[in-house]
This record gives sequence, structure tokens and C-alpha cells, in this order.
Amino acid sequence: MFEIPKTMTGAYLPGNSTVEFKEYEIPELKHGEVLVKTKASTICGSDIRCIYNEHLGKGPEGYQPFMIAGHEPSGQIVQCGPGTRRFKEGDRVVIYHISGCGLCNDCRRGYMISCTSEAYRKAYGWQRDGGMAPYIVAEEKDLVMLPEELSYADGAQVACGFGTVYEGLEKIGISGNDAVLITGLGPVGLAAAMLCRAMGAQNIIGIEANDERIGIARSLELRKGSGIRLFDTVLKAGPDNVAAVRSLTGGMGCEKAVECSANAVARLTAVQATRKWGSIVLIGEGGLMSPDFAPSRDMIHDQKTMFGSWVTNMWRMEELIERLVRWNIHPADLITHRFPLAQAPAAYALMNSGNCGKVAVCFDEELPI
Ligand SMILES: NC(=O)c1ccc[n+]([C@@H]2O[C@H](COP(=O)([O-])OP(=O)(O)OC[C@H]3O[C@@H](n4cnc5c(N)ncnc54)[C@H](O)[C@@H]3O)[C@@H](O)[C@H]2O)c1
Ligand SMILES: [Zn+2]
Ligand SMILES: [Zn+2]
Repeated sequence: MFEIPKTMTGAYLPGNSTVEFKEYEIPELKHGEVLVKTKASTICGSDIRCIYNEHLGKGPEGYQPFMIAGHEPSGQIVQCGPGTRRFKEGDRVVIYHISGCGLCNDCRRGYMISCTSEAYRKAYGWQRDGGMAPYIVAEEKDLVMLPEELSYADGAQVACGFGTVYEGLEKIGISGNDAVLITGLGPVGLAAAMLCRAMGAQNIIGIEANDERIGIARSLELRKGSGIRLFDTVLKAGPDNVAAVRSLTGGMGCEKAVECSANAVARLTAVQATRKWGSIVLIGEGGLMSPDFAPSRDMIHDQKTMFGSWVTNMWRMEELIERLVRWNIHPADLITHRFPLAQAPAAYALMNSGNCGKVAVCFDEELPI
């Protein structure tokens, strides 16, 4: 029988742009918990901004020192604790990246991200151990089943980034009617393009500041080898962006805009390059809106709608996984670099540089040979 070790090496983030390793105990499972063998654990822009470079967020909201990092894990259940009801050993799973109390109104809606219980809201990789280790203790209620058609790396991409983007796109509604502007082409912006393309959007325009990422965005396809590009046009961020988007859309602007950069100027571009009656969703986090934003001119008189969107809920994550299989698309295609856990320092440094697509720490069959 498979022997689960007593201890393991995990990676934590001291907050000075380094990664450290430490030995951690693998605890006995409590009621409703499962032990997941980690297979893929991807790095998010939020990890870099809020934990790797400095520890933003204080008290229970902040990263707790020495917590195993990584809030985008996917893996296989190797042990079930007492009282588990649905999942069993051998199941392939994605871990929704926040464990909530399960009983507040937000948790009951499936949005554990905004659980209101100070005592029970704990994000994996922030306030409880996450995916940068060979094993993760997860609560059964935080699991989403990963079907055979999708790889563990696909699953890790769903745990935060793709789930977040799917939620934002469902808020504004994307169809074949839409020209879509995406600002900020990090992993989240690339995910937005992949899902918009799969949902039928015909004219997808991206704006990005980093030349390496512009090159990556231009080269990516809906499915590898399909010849269907993710973007119709990728523009370098600059002062003439609004005019350029208008000229690519018959002078009108896009029907929909997805803001994934968190940059103040790009936020204003997303609003101004959206046509009358159009919708904008803000996904990029932190910072401010440009001081040049004029609500009457930029929103009210053009009858536009703006949404904020924070992560997703449990059922929508399940729905997204079903759609990924239906559309035959693979979020892992956006991963440009895979590292073993021992090279986590290089993985975080690369993601911090921005000269990459998605970066993953992988285990077992998910590591390239
Ligand atoms: N709302 C949510 O629930 C949620 C969930 C996950 C991530 N996020 C946030 O989404 C954002 C994107 O995540 P990511 O992992 O792709 O991060 P990222 O930092 O890798 O990507 C942001 C991109 O924006 C680009 N950018 C900067 N200035 C720009 C400008 N003026 N015009 C165009 N592009 C510009 C950067 O070069 C970078 O490529 C981050 O702010 C992250 O914190 C939000
Ligand atoms: Zn994330
Ligand atoms: Zn709750």
C-alpha cells in the first residue's frame, strides 16, 4: 500500500522577493478533510503583488508567516478523512482557493472568497497551507472534480485565474456579437482571450505594456496547431490606444472590455474604448482609477455599465470545467514555463519579471521529461 510520509518540504514566501524552503508535518486528517497529492500549482499575479515582493494585507487578511505558498493547486486525492461524503481516493481535483465557514451568506452562495467569518475564512497559500509542497490538506467542500479530459495543469489554471475570468465574462456576457478589448495580457488577460474566443467573440483586441508578453499573446492559439489565434490584434500600451481600438471597430469602440492590468491608465482606456451601451468588467486588483476618468463623459452619457468581479463561486467553477471539455480547450496551453518544486525560487523570479505567460510548479507526470 502507498505510504504517506510524515513530513515534506514546502516553499514559503518571506516577502523580500525570495522563496524559502522548510520541513512541514503532514497532519492527521480531521473530519471532512482530504489529503491531496499536488500535481500542479501555478503562480498568480496576486502572489507576486501581495506576498512575494512584500506582505500586503494585515491581520487575518494577510499572508501568515511560514504558510506554504500557492493558491492555485490541483492534484489527486490519496486519503480521505472521517466523514467525507462525495470525493474518494484516486479522484482528480481542483481546490477552490479559499476555504470559508460554509455557513455565512457569501459561503452559501458559493463565494467563499468573501466569507465573512474571521475565524474560518482561510485562503490556501495565505492563511492555510497551499500548493507549493508535495501534499495539501484540503476540505472536501472546497474541491471541484477534474475530469480525465483535462490535465492537472489545466485544473491549476482553473483554481483561480480561469475561474475569475469566466465569472467576469459571464457578468458582461460574451457572444459572437461582440468585439472585446482586453487590457493587461498577463495570465489573466490571456485566459480572458481564450474564453472569449471559445464563446464566439470575433474581434478580440489586446493591449499590453511588456514586449515579451505582446509576442506571447500574438503567438497563442485557441487550440495548439489550430491556426485560430487568441487575438485579432495586440497593441502596445500607449496614448493612442483608444483611437486605435475605435479604428479597429468601425469607429465605434468594443461592445465589451475586460480590464486585467490594474493599471490606472489602462482602466481608463478600457472604459473609453467601450462603445455606447457597452459593458466593462474590472478584474485587475489594487491601485486607483485614472484621475482623468470623467463619469459623465466616460460612462453616464454613453449609458455604459461597469462591473467589479472577484474570483468565482463553486458551481460556476464546476460549470467552467464542463465548458472547457465541451469546447476542447486547454488552459495549460497558456503555461510557458514549468519548474520542479526545488526550483520554485526561479519560478517566482520569472513570474515577477513578467517575461512569461503562466508559470507553474509541477510534480510527477505534469513535469516535462
Ligand atoms: N478580481 C479577481 O478576482 C482577481 C483574481 C486573480 C487575479 N486578479 C488580478 O488580476 C490582475 C492580472 O493578474 P495576472 O496574474 O495576469 O497579473 P500580471 O501582473 O502578470 O498581469 C498584468 C499585466 O498588465 C500589464 N500592464 C501594466 N500596465 C499596463 C498598461 N498600461 N496597459 C496594458 N497592460 C499593462 C503588465 O505588463 C502585465 O503583463 C492582477 O492585478 C491580479 O492581482 C484579480
Ligand atoms: Zn490568484
Ligand atoms: Zn462563510
